[in-house]
Amino acid sequence: MEMKMENFAARWIYMAVIYFVVAVGLGIFMGASHDHSLMAVHAHLNLLGWVSQGLTGVIYHYFQNAGRSKLASAHFWIYNVALAPMMLALALLLKGNVAAEPVLGILSMVMGISVLLFAINMFLPRKASGNASKRSANLVLQ
Ligand code: HEM
Ligand code: HEM
Repeated sequence: MEMKMENFAARWIYMAVIYFVVAVGLGIFMGASHDHSLMAVHAHLNLLGWVSQGLTGVIYHYFQNAGRSKLASAHFWIYNVALAPMMLALALLLKGNVAAEPVLGILSMVMGISVLLFAINMFLPRKASGNASKRSANLVLQ
């Protein structure tokens, strides 16, 4: 049953924390070395890795019915399977490896699909349960 699934909120937040460490580590390396060639990797490790994943975790914590759905599982796995190789492909491209560009393009579209799944998951009408508000059966406040 859909509602018995574990909430994905914690997984998003743990992933966010890992990306935060890596992204800030790269930022410090960039500053120390004066080599800013990987700036876009640093920016997206922070924004897709730390900020967006952390925010997603917080959102799923509140929108319990969305956070426990099969769509939430697909959203999490597709996003996270795409993100690390996408950052690697971006790094290779910025270092002059043009063969990485189509790979980066495909992975960014996979990432885009996972974001669409998130949007569908958030707006999908569900039967109200627990103390879900009338406005959104996806939102169950603790
Ligand atoms: C100790 C922590 C950090 C260090 C040392 C650091 C260092 C840097 C450096 C050296 C650049 C390149 C600047 C340039 O070439 O113009 C940069 C760019 C950037 N950083 Fe960080 N950063 C840190 C944390 C963060 C965090 C937490 C975020 C986001 C949540 C972030 C987001 C960005 C973005 C978006 C850019 C690109 C800015 C632009 O488009 O001009 N950084 N950072
Ligand atoms: C699949 C998702 C994404 C793709 C394909 C993408 C793509 C891009 C591209 C092509 C650039 C220009 C880079 C350049 O001129 O060198 C860029 C820059 C930027 N993007 Fe994204 N982006 C994505 C997600 C995001 C998200 C979620 C955020 C914020 C939460 C974000 C924030 C930024 C910022 C701040 C910059 C300027 C810093 C930089 O040049 O690296 N992006 N992005």
